[in-house]
Amino acid sequence: QKLEMELETIEKGGYDHFMIKEIFEQSRSIGDSMRGRLRSEDAHLQLGGLNNYLDKLAEADRIIIVGCGTSWHAGLVAEYLFEELARVNVEVEYASEFRYRNPVISEKDIVIAISQSGETADTLAAIELAKSKGATIFGVCNVVGSSIARATHAGAYTHAGPEIGVASTKAFTAQVTVLTLIAIAMAKRKGTITEETYRQLLIELEHIPEKVAKVFENASKIKEIAFIFTYARNFIYLGRGLNFPVALEGALKLKEISYIHAEGYPAAEMKHGPIALIDEDMPVVFLATRDSSYEKIVSNIQEVKARKGRVIAIVTEGDKLIPGMVDFVIEVPQTHEMLTPLVSVIPLQLLSYYIAVMRGRNVDQPRNLAKSVTVE
Ligand code: G6P
Repeated sequence: QKLEMELETIEKGGYDHFMIKEIFEQSRSIGDSMRGRLRSEDAHLQLGGLNNYLDKLAEADRIIIVGCGTSWHAGLVAEYLFEELARVNVEVEYASEFRYRNPVISEKDIVIAISQSGETADTLAAIELAKSKGATIFGVCNVVGSSIARATHAGAYTHAGPEIGVASTKAFTAQVTVLTLIAIAMAKRKGTITEETYRQLLIELEHIPEKVAKVFENASKIKEIAFIFTYARNFIYLGRGLNFPVALEGALKLKEISYIHAEGYPAAEMKHGPIALIDEDMPVVFLATRDSSYEKIVSNIQEVKARKGRVIAIVTEGDKLIPGMVDFVIEVPQTHEMLTPLVSVIPLQLLSYYIAVMRGRNVDQPRNLAKSVTVE
């Protein structure tokens, strides 16, 4: 017993929980997921596992992405990336829904299955179904040799390393990283991005690890904000574009480990329902980085402030406007718009972690949840 406890302390590398260790590992794990695959100086981008399939990808009319939980959120981020960069039709499906419908799939379809564990029963069943209809299946898994990795035709591993905390953090950013690489490789092959955008994306990707490290410098500020909102009963997370799936992921993290009810919404949908919930007791987390939806987000923030909601905004470093409008700001470094989720999700992970710790929750093993769900 004592030995086990000591071993665990060593494994946590001096951190109180695996989750916080894994959050802080992201400046390394994102880099690990790119290592050997990307080199901006000579515009090199290659994913070994996909080499023989790049033409197939480039010819696809449609990509169907399947996953569950956080992996499904990574799929939603990928939808924006694939559509914007590679101009291909993308559908993102909960594996559990997909497998029990009678989905229209043919040999022309490409299915990308995303799974940290590679063992999720619903995702595995979705793969088998699509395979039986002749689709080509790619896997984006973290666990090498896992059932899903073995069931796919080809794939690219995320190199996040073992993830112990039940709430997924570094696996998510590794998934988004690998999916970004696939989208860029596909766009390059199809000629849907300019040489300049291609190079710019590679350079920006290489800078992501240091930008993520920069977000960590705000950890104590995020902790203070967490302290203020420890006893909130509800939370709303709002974002647009690529930050919409990040809002969903932020809300999921909070729910999973603090047991606070939280909802993520596309910011523009707020007026169709959630706005009715807003009063002085309702914290609203806005993903408000400087991107193409910035002005629209600013007006959404005004709508919430007009109803006395308490706003925590994730903003781009140096933002002069939003700090004057909201209750709290957390800055993240500027990056290419397409890469924003990799930096904007970090403060949300930290916020949920600190809130859960302050509430005395079992952060690494939240009640009722399992790390990998191998049954239906
Ligand atoms: C469980 C875990 C989540 C995870 C989901 C999908 O619910 O608690 O953290 O996102 O399964 O798991 P996978 O291993 O397929 O990514």
